[in-house]
Amino acid sequence: MADVKEILQLDFSHAAGSPGSGSDLADQAVAARDQLESRQGPGNDYLGWLDLPLNIAEAELAAVEAAAQEIQAAEALVIVGIGGSYLGARTVLEALRSPFDQQHQHHQQQQQQNLPVYYAGHQMDAGYHAALYKHLAGKRYAVNVISKSGTTTEPGLAFRSLYGDLSARYAAEDLRKLVFATTDASKGSLRKLADEAGLTSFTIADDVGGRYSVLTPVGLLPIAAGGLDIRRLVAGARTMREYLKGSGKDFANNPALQYAAYRNAQYRAGKKIEIMAAYNEGLHYLGEWWKQLYGESEGKNGKGIFPASVDLSTDLHSMGQWMQDGERSIFETVLDVADVAGPIIEKQPNDADGLNYLAGRELNAVNRTALQATLEAHSDGGVPCLRIELNRLDEFTLGALLYMFQYACGVSAYMLGVNPFDQPGVEAYKKNMFRMLGKPGH
Ligand code: PA5
Repeated sequence: MADVKEILQLDFSHAAGSPGSGSDLADQAVAARDQLESRQGPGNDYLGWLDLPLNIAEAELAAVEAAAQEIQAAEALVIVGIGGSYLGARTVLEALRSPFDQQHQHHQQQQQQNLPVYYAGHQMDAGYHAALYKHLAGKRYAVNVISKSGTTTEPGLAFRSLYGDLSARYAAEDLRKLVFATTDASKGSLRKLADEAGLTSFTIADDVGGRYSVLTPVGLLPIAAGGLDIRRLVAGARTMREYLKGSGKDFANNPALQYAAYRNAQYRAGKKIEIMAAYNEGLHYLGEWWKQLYGESEGKNGKGIFPASVDLSTDLHSMGQWMQDGERSIFETVLDVADVAGPIIEKQPNDADGLNYLAGRELNAVNRTALQATLEAHSDGGVPCLRIELNRLDEFTLGALLYMFQYACGVSAYMLGVNPFDQPGVEAYKKNMFRMLGKPGH
């Protein structure tokens, strides 16, 4: 088994103390972990994600890869989904593919890593969707519609338009090469439509909730279609899963338990907001995914840390003032990627810009120095900062990181005394919206 310390490490040296083995909070984290692992806690019918990295069947991976290959024959892919049904895929795709020519940065030998990928139905912005439909007009694009319930309004409306467009232009047989559905095994209107049209479809197991579903076809199909290696992603998650219940079982070696204990310690000390800070452009969506995971899992019964995120050093020029000097109700969790290939700063003969003192250094080293300097400044300013160091960004490390965050979230929510796997609060806006829109029965 790979040593998890070679993938990621937690550094509490700027965190103003973290719960050590044997402390009350460490014991509570261990008890919460035991509750999770023994499947005795609230929401225990939604624990399918826990052993998912060990249980994914070869046949399922092969079916996903075959569908991905069909999608790659199209001119573009549109991923239709919202919340947990799209954030995992977007996180991995944006972390590992170039934002410019959409070429995957790490395994250039793989095919079709430049397949353009677009998103729809993750909101209902008319202008965005009008521009997308205009851009797609006449193109032979593929659609992966993803909705566990199969009834969510935002992706439902986008899919109605896209499917309508493709059905008007392609015969049924061709349509089946372009439209792929990921939904519940039997419930919901999307399942019915997919079955009736004979579309290739994938199933989301009943016991896996949206925000824990990145390693199901919900995440795997669009990630594979984007040209990334889903087997490495699963292998990273599997390595973390095996470590957390094997050689990393004890609190002293367990990053998930330490993270869960630490953030509960901060919360109890009055730090109500956790800010995820990423110094790599591609990690923006990791912040979005992490906010959904922790926000929807913990924010209930009048409790829960508010998860926020910033992109640094960009936001040091906007949110930096607040973080350094504002109300001391925040703590910061910093993602630090050790190895990022990039430019080396050149020496200029006349040093007109005064930057020759940096000549010969890697841009990533300068970025990491900014990170270190900010860690010191923010912790001096009363913001506890945890640094999570990733050795590099690839499918394997991301698989391990995503799994670690999911596991820590389950533990942390149990420490807080809430059910991590339900989201009763998201129904309130829907109820009002359906009434205002005149949906039958509302
Ligand atoms: O995590 C969750 O459960 C939610 O964010 C859902 O993923 C989101 O509401 C989309 O639901 P559905 O997949 O049913 O369309």
